[in-house]
Formats: sequence, C-alpha cells, structure tokens
Amino acid sequence: MIERLNHVAIAVPDLGAATRRYRDTLGARVSAPQALPEHGVTVVFVDLGNTRTELLAPLGEGSPIAAFLERNPAGGMHHVCYEVEDIAAARERLMRDGMRVLGDGEAKIGAHGNPVLFLHPKDFDGTLIELEQVAR
Ligand code: CO
Repeated sequence: MIERLNHVAIAVPDLGAATRRYRDTLGARVSAPQALPEHGVTVVFVDLGNTRTELLAPLGEGSPIAAFLERNPAGGMHHVCYEVEDIAAARERLMRDGMRVLGDGEAKIGAHGNPVLFLHPKDFDGTLIELEQVAR
C-alpha cells in the first residue's frame, strides 16, 4: 500500500536560519518559502533528487506545529510522508485495522496539491505519518 518516501518534515524555530543551513552549509537546493495558511505552516522544500526534506515553521494562530516546537524548542523531526496510489482505499484499510486518522478523518489537499491524511503517532511507533496520494 505505501510506496515511496515523499518527504521527511522537520519543524524548525527559525525558517530563515534553517534554510540558510541547508543551502549554504549542506549545499542543498532549497525552494522559496511557501505559506500554507490552511495548514498553519510555512514550508521550504529541500530537493534531494530521490526525495525531499520539508522545513516547517508555524504560521498564524493555532498552528499544528506550535505545540511541537514548545516541547522541542530546538526543532525536530515532525513526520514522514509515504506515497499511496489511492488515499480513499488506504483510509478504508487503515480504519478497518483500527488505526486512527487525525482531524475529521477526511483527506485534505496538502502542500503539493495532492490529497493527504495524517495517522496517529501512537498507532505507528511514536511517529506521525502522512500519506499522500500521488498519481503514477
Ligand atoms: Co508533510
């Protein structure tokens, strides 16, 4: 069901500083910052060829990563995103197996314009998992 690793997301307290470290110290290709108000985050994509890292900073009130940064003031790994071919089928299978989908349980449009779901970290070894439907 899950296929490629689409990205690893890292929550950062200072997006400008993190972007400069990836670009200048690690020599990576980084995108311009992209504000995603409906997700409460600003994102910078680090293009790694075979996958991406996403640097996430909180945007606006009630950002889903604000509490994470309160617990992890230096930042930290926030989630991993796996690709699926059919997110509705994936959701059905997960729910049938008793896994919890976060939020209202419905897929939302994510940072890359594709439907995404988040799965409860307690159901997956303490790791927040995002599933993204990617057309093949
Ligand atoms: Co993500």
